[in-house]
Amino acid sequence: MTKNLIDPQDLSVAEIDGILTLAQKIIDDPDKYSEVCKRKKLATLFFEPSTRTRLSFEAAMLELGGSILGFSSAASSSATKGESVGDTVKIVSCYADIIAMRHPKEGAPMLASMKSDVPIINAGDGGHSHPTQTLADLLTIKREKGRLDNLTIGLCGDLMFGRTVHSLIKAMSRYEGIKFILISPDELKIPDYIRTEVLDRNNIPYKEVYTMDEVMGELDVLYMTRVQKERFFNEADYIRLKDTYILDNSKLALARPAMSILHPLPRVNEIAVEVDDDPRACYFRQALNGKYVRMALIMTLLGLVPEEDR
Ligand code: NCD
Repeated sequence: MTKNLIDPQDLSVAEIDGILTLAQKIIDDPDKYSEVCKRKKLATLFFEPSTRTRLSFEAAMLELGGSILGFSSAASSSATKGESVGDTVKIVSCYADIIAMRHPKEGAPMLASMKSDVPIINAGDGGHSHPTQTLADLLTIKREKGRLDNLTIGLCGDLMFGRTVHSLIKAMSRYEGIKFILISPDELKIPDYIRTEVLDRNNIPYKEVYTMDEVMGELDVLYMTRVQKERFFNEADYIRLKDTYILDNSKLALARPAMSILHPLPRVNEIAVEVDDDPRACYFRQALNGKYVRMALIMTLLGLVPEEDR
């Protein structure tokens, strides 16, 4: 088992399935796990804004009986004085047993893992990767659809800068019978390395389209994403592209009755509030699943999974 989680592929499919099974056991009997991380500390080092990821990590550790420390913006850390990520992590690993780090620079958590004496979890690095969101996505798909194989998954919106998209494609490509439908404007198509190193290399069927309407009826899962304003080089491009896709009840009328709608959140305009009441809207349940899967991950990386659950 890996000591760190930097990329979804650091975990084997069997390890991912183990984490998802453990998360379900925690959901079924949370009291059993309420002391598992007693006297252990999680540090959340967030150099970039977050609501769900940071707070769900913290709630996860608290519900396991552990404690938390950390910072929620680069501005409140010694990064403002010029301290390197490597030095920050070296210091924090004296105070905490496990670290969750989010950073605007791609690769920062990987670099941190080379300096740290304790496990590092990548909580999002720039436009690159977001493996714990992927675990939340997988748990949601598994709970909603009852399986992780033989699914047609539509990914819609900012496929270029959306790190949750890149990680989800990497993870889902390892299950049988997966087909992707990539819905985006030309400017926001998936990066070339995802196309060549993940999809083409593994012979995963996919097609790229511009409109949602033409594919809506084919999808088992629709994964909506926000256009990643903070990664754009120029504001005019962002403004032009930001409202390309808006899922509302009229579009949803074209979808299958059992399609699941996921979104890592935060949403801006891409899902109309009226959709929230549709039973196919899974995104709030997905956020809750994020806490349980992070509980399972923390226990796993700390080697604290009870014998009977291994
Ligand atoms: C995502 C992220 O940070 O990449 N949010 C999250 O962690 N739930 C998606 C986003 O910010 O659009």
